[in-house]
Parts: sequence; structure tokens; C-alpha cells
Amino acid sequence: MYTENYITESLVLHLFFGRIMKEHSLFLKAGFTPVNFNCSAKAEFYKNEFEKLLSRAVTLSSGKTSRKVLDSGEIVTEFTLVAERQTEKLTGIPINSSITRRELNLGSSGCRDIANISRQVKALNRTALRLLDGLIALKEEILNRVLCCQMFTMNYPLLLEHILREAKLYRKYVQMLEDNGEICTQSMKEVECFWNQIMMEHALFIRGLLDLSETELINSADGFASDYSVLLNCCNNAQNRTLNIDSMAETKKFRDFKAAGAKGIENCKIRSLILPLLADHVLREANHYIRIMES
Ligand SMILES: [Fe+2]
Ligand SMILES: [Fe+2]
Repeated sequence: MYTENYITESLVLHLFFGRIMKEHSLFLKAGFTPVNFNCSAKAEFYKNEFEKLLSRAVTLSSGKTSRKVLDSGEIVTEFTLVAERQTEKLTGIPINSSITRRELNLGSSGCRDIANISRQVKALNRTALRLLDGLIALKEEILNRVLCCQMFTMNYPLLLEHILREAKLYRKYVQMLEDNGEICTQSMKEVECFWNQIMMEHALFIRGLLDLSETELINSADGFASDYSVLLNCCNNAQNRTLNIDSMAETKKFRDFKAAGAKGIENCKIRSLILPLLADHVLREANHYIRIMES
């Protein structure tokens, strides 16, 4: 029988990454042309399955999620609901916003029947592993076909690699929970290198998806990309395994930039190829990184 920690860590993981995976699936689907109807249907399948997984995680999380996680802005932000409504309208891809509304009302205290919930969490983790294997295979298939020019999609190859890495990290953590009952702490250096690369790539995506006339925002995004490139280098070459405080300061600045971007896109004040939900998605990932650096 696993501990309360197993339950809490599993659920927090699904609340963050389950939503991330369903949104990756949506971004994949939104980027296909009609000829790739097959992959498009598979992407929709994973969007729906991860939506169910997330919904289940929200139900089980009631009263079991710490205030710190709920307030971090990694699960939902002030922009998520509107971003979902707009993205659904813009793409025609259905989004279950009732999950988001339930997440916005999640509390941090409630009754706990540990044995019963532990069994349900175990089932959820198994489902997550199965779905992740499928989604990872799909992302790899798309990436490989794009790289040998047998497929065209509106998603950059680097974005495909990026969302593949995020899925593999999620899978690794769920496997750790199933094998050891906890996420074995990686060194802070490893965590920092992973997320600094993710942040650097977000800056590159934002830069590449802004309208060419958005000079000021493009310059800011370029600045973040080069700052993170330096931080990533430092991190890769670091001898000690402690966190570089510059990563925290940079990510707080980048989080504010992303929040301003999400607001500007929601209010139709920025010209770009960025879906409102993508703007909110990258903001949540920065909030997640900040929360793990703080803990
Ligand atoms: Fe992502
Ligand atoms: Fe990302």
C-alpha cells in the first residue's frame, strides 16, 4: 500500500501534465492539413483521452492539493477559461471547459479515504502510462515524417521535439511513482537544465510565431532566448548541483512577459500565429518551473 505522498505527487503531476498533454494533442490537430486526416484523428483521440484522465485527476484531487500548487498558476491561470473558449471557436476543436471551472474551484482540504483513493490513483497512473506510450509514439511518428519531408504541418519540427521531451519527462515521473511510490528527486541541476531549455525554446517559438511587424515583441523574445541560452550553458557546465538563482530571476521576468502576451492575444492586441491556449500553455509551464524552483 502506497503512502499519502504517492497520492499527492501523482495527482499534482496529472493536474499539470495531463492538461499539458491534452493541449499538445490539440495543437497537433490544429496544425494538420486535410491530407493528414489519419494523424489528425489520432491527435483528437489523445486530446479526448487526456481530457478524461485530467477530469478523473480533478475529481480525486478535491481536498488533496496543497495551496501552494493551487496558487502557483501551473494548473490553470486567470486566462485559461477565456483562452479555451476562444481556441475552440477559432479551431472548431471541442474543449471541455467544465474541467477548468472545476479546477478553479479546487480546495486544499477535505476528507481522505487513503486506501480507496490510493487504488484509484494507481489505476490512473496505469492509464497515464498507456496513453503516454501512444502519444509519444504518435509525436515520434509525426516528427520523423516531417524530418524526411513526407509530412507538412504548421508546427515547427523543434516544437515537435519539444513536446516529445515534455511527454517523456511526464512518463518518467509516473513510472517512478509506480516503481518507488515517489518521484525520486533528480538533482536540481538536471531539473534546471531541462526547464531552461524548455524556456529558451518557448522564447524561440514566440519569436517565430509573432507577426513580422511585431518588432518590439520579437526583440524581447530574442532577448529571452539568448539569456536562456547562456543560462543553459552555465547549467550544463556547472560542477555543483545547486540551483542558479539567475534562472529564477529570468523565469519570473519571462513569466511576466508571457502573461502580458497571453493577455494581449486574448484581447486581440497582438498580431501572431499563436492560439490563445498556446499562450496560456507556455505561461503555465513557466509557473510550474518557478514552483519547483521555489520548493
Ligand atoms: Fe508543453
Ligand atoms: Fe513547453
